[in-house]
Amino acid sequence: MNVCDIIFKTKRHEKLKEEEIKWLIDGYVEGSIPDYQISAWLMAVCFSSLTEEETVILTKVMRDSGDVLDLGGINGVTVDKHSTGGIGDKTSLIIAPVCAACGIYVPKMSGRGLGFTGGTIDKLESIPGFQVNIDFDRYIDIINKNGAAIIAQSGQLVPADKKLYALRDVTATVDSIPLICSSIMSKKLATGADCILLDVKTGSGAFMKNTDDARKLAELMVKTGESAGKKCRAMITDMNEPLGNAVGNSLEVIEACEILSGKEKGRLYELCMELAANMLELGGKGNIEECRKLAVNAIDSGCAMERFQKMIEAQEGDPEVTENYSLFDKPLYKYEIKADKSGYISDINSEAVGMAALMTGAGRQNKGGKIDSSAGIILNSHRGDYIHNGDVIMTLYSSSVSDFSEAAEKASDSVEISGNMPEVQPAVMEII
Ligand code: URA
Repeated sequence: MNVCDIIFKTKRHEKLKEEEIKWLIDGYVEGSIPDYQISAWLMAVCFSSLTEEETVILTKVMRDSGDVLDLGGINGVTVDKHSTGGIGDKTSLIIAPVCAACGIYVPKMSGRGLGFTGGTIDKLESIPGFQVNIDFDRYIDIINKNGAAIIAQSGQLVPADKKLYALRDVTATVDSIPLICSSIMSKKLATGADCILLDVKTGSGAFMKNTDDARKLAELMVKTGESAGKKCRAMITDMNEPLGNAVGNSLEVIEACEILSGKEKGRLYELCMELAANMLELGGKGNIEECRKLAVNAIDSGCAMERFQKMIEAQEGDPEVTENYSLFDKPLYKYEIKADKSGYISDINSEAVGMAALMTGAGRQNKGGKIDSSAGIILNSHRGDYIHNGDVIMTLYSSSVSDFSEAAEKASDSVEISGNMPEVQPAVMEII
């Protein structure tokens, strides 16, 4: 086989054979095919795309490039959830204990953030003592006892994606639906759950800026998961403003506690109840109405919070933090952003809020960089709220940055105030 032939075929929209895709990816992972040839093929995919069948083959070849976890030691149906990413997305912290309290098993391997704020793993590490590096046997044991565990990815999971993603990042080849699908789904298939719920975000703060692209990605990911023998569903959800009130690490864990204890309702709560209900339905706990009731009851009865505390304890964290927020590292500095006129909040640019949060120290500027777990932003108002001149619209926190001028300018610029009430999308836009 010859790499140039494969690049030519993709350029001319000719379908690749399974053995060609396998030869190309395996050769790249082993090092016999160089970056420059794979870069050319990735660019050809960006322009000419791949068929559904080619995407499925690519995903399976990538999955099989490393370890594929066997979750057969777990005593029941396993359901995982993946979000395509958004600012303030702490839904995993909430729905894992909710679903565990309702009797399904949630094995979650999550990543660290390299972007605006930390990933789920960084958020959990803001809990004093919390351990994310747990060996596989203990992971299975914790899931069997408590119904859920959230740990850092370990071992050799999908080395093909590690190499390909790093290359895509520096060759402007991230924005291709088949490449995004194969990258996400190869990792989900390798982590082994029976059922997968995909939360595909759309809007200004998401990878997929419009609903049509979000729908195409969602449909392709569901088909790919199903053809690999998994039960799959996707939800298209709104990311036209940050999710919930908090953007940061301990700030987001505190918000998750407020939801789990039933104190905070609103848009984030509604989204979490829908995600949890869909995971429970996938896991065979009843029809969607019955599953919604189960999820709501898990919060109202206190069972979900109890599960969260057990999860924290099993991973060596201090469960007291869920009731006593002063146990988190306290931010040393604070800055309030006030409205300079009255009107409706017509836009909050999520990416700009994320960038401002990064400037407070809540995210990593480079790989391996240090995160300030106390840093971030509280949104005191949301899209559609009417506010008066001088009202506080956002509060910035940090222990690592005392001069907020840059972050405050970015955060301030992210908000638009106008005389007209904006159209606010429902949190869940479509289910596929
Ligand atoms: N997330 C991933 O894991 N891969 C992509 O290609 C895009 C988002």
